[in-house]
Amino acid sequence: MRFRVRTLNSISPRGLERLPRERYQLGDAVDRPDAILVRSADMHALDIPASVIAVGRAGAGTNNIPVSLLTQRGVPVFTAPGANANAVKELVLAGLFLGARHIGPALDFVRSLELEGDALDAAVESGKKRFIGHELPGRTLGVVGLGAIGVEVANAAHLLGMHVLGYDPQITVQRAWQLSSGVEQALSLEDLFARSHAVTVHVPLTDGTRGLVGAKRLALMPEGGPVLNFARAAIVDEPAIVAALDAGRLGAYVCDFPSPVTRGVAGVVALPHLGASTSEAEENCAMMVVDTLRDFLEHGNIRHSVNFPEAALSRVPATSRIAIANANVPNMVGQISTRLADAGLNIADLLNKSKGEVAYTLVDIDGKVPAGLVERIASIQGVLGARAV
Ligand SMILES: NC(=O)c1ccc[n+]([C@@H]2O[C@H](COP(=O)([O-])OP(=O)(O)OC[C@H]3O[C@@H](n4cnc5c(N)ncnc54)[C@H](O)[C@@H]3O)[C@@H](O)[C@H]2O)c1
Repeated sequence: MRFRVRTLNSISPRGLERLPRERYQLGDAVDRPDAILVRSADMHALDIPASVIAVGRAGAGTNNIPVSLLTQRGVPVFTAPGANANAVKELVLAGLFLGARHIGPALDFVRSLELEGDALDAAVESGKKRFIGHELPGRTLGVVGLGAIGVEVANAAHLLGMHVLGYDPQITVQRAWQLSSGVEQALSLEDLFARSHAVTVHVPLTDGTRGLVGAKRLALMPEGGPVLNFARAAIVDEPAIVAALDAGRLGAYVCDFPSPVTRGVAGVVALPHLGASTSEAEENCAMMVVDTLRDFLEHGNIRHSVNFPEAALSRVPATSRIAIANANVPNMVGQISTRLADAGLNIADLLNKSKGEVAYTLVDIDGKVPAGLVERIASIQGVLGARAV
């Protein structure tokens, strides 16, 4: 048994089955765990054992985890960013159709028909004229934020035949690779709003994105289009949305955030925060975080950590690896290299990355890690943790 993993919540079996039982001991009562897997359990009050070298959260946020404390201990916290992207994308696509075909008000109309027979048929035929919609091909969708979700939405809308404009000044190289070449880059948010029949937002809520969809930008949109918000309520200025709907300039506001401001307003379709609510999204989160945790435990590689830098090296035969978490201060790599040189070891590969106050070093050496070396490295002032992997 090499690794011991304590689960604080029930984690999807599809995730846990990716930890082979011959190498992993798993369960909620595992003592001296190497790692903790958690979903929503509050870890702030928990006495986290000193044996823990990693925490994996099967989800996106980390409010329930004492991240700074773990950072000081050199413990990376892993999450599953984007694991729910497909779930949100599907609901956004549903929102596009809801807006284009007036499905919300049409359902309300049908519910109001307490008629039968010919009277019902007549009411349906005369009432349906109010709900003439439009098809998506040829229309322009503006996608604000091209991260995990935005890229999926943009690509899917492009496949539906829409012209897609995207805007994200900080798009990552990985997302740019995933984005369909058919998606056009908007020059600015104003450019995007002015040219989009429908706008959907997929940015995090920050000081910079609060109220991003406001009166001025809504006024730029061609008349009648919907705004979709499956990101966070406050990214949209709700009073401005209500005013635009009342004035008939906006066709619909489809969102995942019921609010007293928009409640009962004609044209608002509010869902009860269903974006990531699929059984698959929960499984995807568990599978993703288990894979990253396993790669860290077995190879020292770090991906998708909220407090440590991305750091991954492929393994080379006949080498062994030392993984070191250290304070991001000068001369750490120099001191680590000196310890290796003192032991007469040749460095086959070395990676050092930093993020904020911490840095992480992977050193591959020819041959085996000699006894006592890890302890000598761990004793360097500023090293938070070191291990042979
Ligand atoms: N409705 C739901 O249930 C649900 C589920 C998951 C996520 N979300 C929300 O969706 C948001 C996006 O999720 P994600 O996984 O795609 O996140 P992500 O971090 O992968 O992508 C966010 C993108 O927004 C971009 N961005 C930030 N500020 C911007 C700005 N001012 N203009 C344009 N682009 C900007 C970033 O560069 C990044 O590429 C999350 O922050 C979360 O609030 C909602």
